[in-house]
Amino acid sequence: MFVSFEGPDWSGKSTQAARLVEWLRGEGREVVATREPGGTPLGEAVRDLVLHGVEMSPWAEAALFATARAEHVAALIQPALARGAWVVCDRYVDSSLVYQGIGRELGVDAVLGLNATVTEGLLPDLTFVLLLDAEAAAARSGAELDRIERADEPFRRRVADGYGTLAARFPGRVVALDASRTPDELEEQVREHVRRS
Ligand code: TYD
Repeated sequence: MFVSFEGPDWSGKSTQAARLVEWLRGEGREVVATREPGGTPLGEAVRDLVLHGVEMSPWAEAALFATARAEHVAALIQPALARGAWVVCDRYVDSSLVYQGIGRELGVDAVLGLNATVTEGLLPDLTFVLLLDAEAAAARSGAELDRIERADEPFRRRVADGYGTLAARFPGRVVALDASRTPDELEEQVREHVRRS
């Protein structure tokens, strides 16, 4: 079972991913907990480059995220799923659809095409999207911002709105949650969906 967590920066998705991992392990399941960009040595190197490195064009950025993802799927995610483990991933392809496809305005279909190729079409079974509007996200933001978090306000607004669009586009796979709820309420909603899936 492959589960991903998505949402704008500061939506609380990493907390929910960690809580789900803890719960599943408590139930005795093998769980691979991972994140994007990252999850492999190449992925962590790309993470450093794309979040803390030089400026780059939108397609260069999309291609770097796709590079990290290709390696992640081949080296970690696919082997884990093949042996029957659960994979819980903090961000996956939907981050590229929203940040690069909608935020950088490359187009969702074009970015999906690139990612479908490099992942051999692997999509999560279940994706939780924590929806938070741009104002609420800004109010939660910290002092140390990476290259993408430093993007201008219209970009952040497109990302926040883009996640809503995405949930509507993939209704079977994507579950939209209200990130303004408490962490405990969100955790219970996540468990409820996982139990039913
Ligand atoms: P995240 O792990 O949420 O950062 P942090 O360590 O600060 O919690 O994600 C890193 C950033 O990368 C985030 O701003 C979203 C961005 N991103 C993309 O733009 N496209 C992608 O495909 C991925 C995976 C992340």
